[in-house]
Amino acid sequence: MKEIKGRTAVVTGAGGGMGRSIALELAAEGANVAVVDIDKAAAEAVAAEIGAKGSRATAHAVDVSDLDAVWGLADEVYAEFGSVEILVNNAGVTLRPFRASWDTSYEDYEWVMKVNFWGVLNGHHVFVPRMRETPGEKHIVNTSSMASLISVAGHSAYSAAKSAVDGLSHAARGELATQGIGVSILHPGPVRTRIVTSERLRSEAERSEARGVKPWSDYVQQPGNPIVEGKAEEPVTDPDVAATPLEYITPNATGRLVVDAIKANKPHILTHPAPVAELQARFDAVLAGAPQPRQD
Ligand SMILES: NC(=O)c1ccc[n+]([C@@H]2O[C@H](COP(=O)([O-])OP(=O)(O)OC[C@H]3O[C@@H](n4cnc5c(N)ncnc54)[C@H](O)[C@@H]3O)[C@@H](O)[C@H]2O)c1
Repeated sequence: MKEIKGRTAVVTGAGGGMGRSIALELAAEGANVAVVDIDKAAAEAVAAEIGAKGSRATAHAVDVSDLDAVWGLADEVYAEFGSVEILVNNAGVTLRPFRASWDTSYEDYEWVMKVNFWGVLNGHHVFVPRMRETPGEKHIVNTSSMASLISVAGHSAYSAAKSAVDGLSHAARGELATQGIGVSILHPGPVRTRIVTSERLRSEAERSEARGVKPWSDYVQQPGNPIVEGKAEEPVTDPDVAATPLEYITPNATGRLVVDAIKANKPHILTHPAPVAELQARFDAVLAGAPQPRQD
């Protein structure tokens, strides 16, 4: 998509963190932005921030895991702006502490899959048919994680959900290329946001704290792994751009990376330097798993 000015963007999870950065950057490029978040006050604050800079933005309090609510969102956005050319399915949650797959409850898997995968699917299901009918270039960004590219012990529910986002996005990219709609997958590395406190969005009884979940670190120490050890309340002294694949950064630069990727129709967007050795090892292992071809 070459021109973002005058288009309408829907950004979920835009009340903070990377979604906010993406919403601000799209607005700075001249897009109208529908700021969507389960947290009404956060969505309203970001919409007001965009409005104060002279762009059009609306706030929508929506739980992306609720299909009926996403249908309602689409009705509101089409009534307000008339079209949607950019869809950023970004809302997501995570579990803390990290935990072994066998210590992860069925309800943990359900919650993380519902928001991180079904939330993306609901956006896809509701918006794609209408986007197909809109003339001109269009683009979808689905937020996955570096956790779908490399193996992260203690993070199975999240990795499963993000890998499902990758699978949907890869298939959809091939299909939608024929329909004038680009698809990109955003794979953030460690970014200092409120994601580590996601469980605030669950009922008290469901929270890991109340259930006394056994942390993965009880089995294996992972000293120096910032993804495991990072705390949201640490003083924010992070850089905007990372020097290594696992360095914590601010979300400030994410919006620019996403806007550039939309313009270039890039299939993948990383926020960090690529974890080259891990990616190489994964693909080497895939290739090593293949048999020799039959010789006729
Ligand atoms: N921060 C990281 O290190 C990191 C790493 C990899 C991937 N991600 C992914 O990036 C995306 C953005 O996360 P972030 O780090 O900016 O975190 P964040 O918590 O700052 O932002 C996520 C936003 O989503 C909202 N949200 C949560 N559940 C929702 C729901 N059911 N419906 C609608 N909105 C909901 C939250 O209120 C929040 O404003 C997520 O998909 C996350 O999984 C983050």
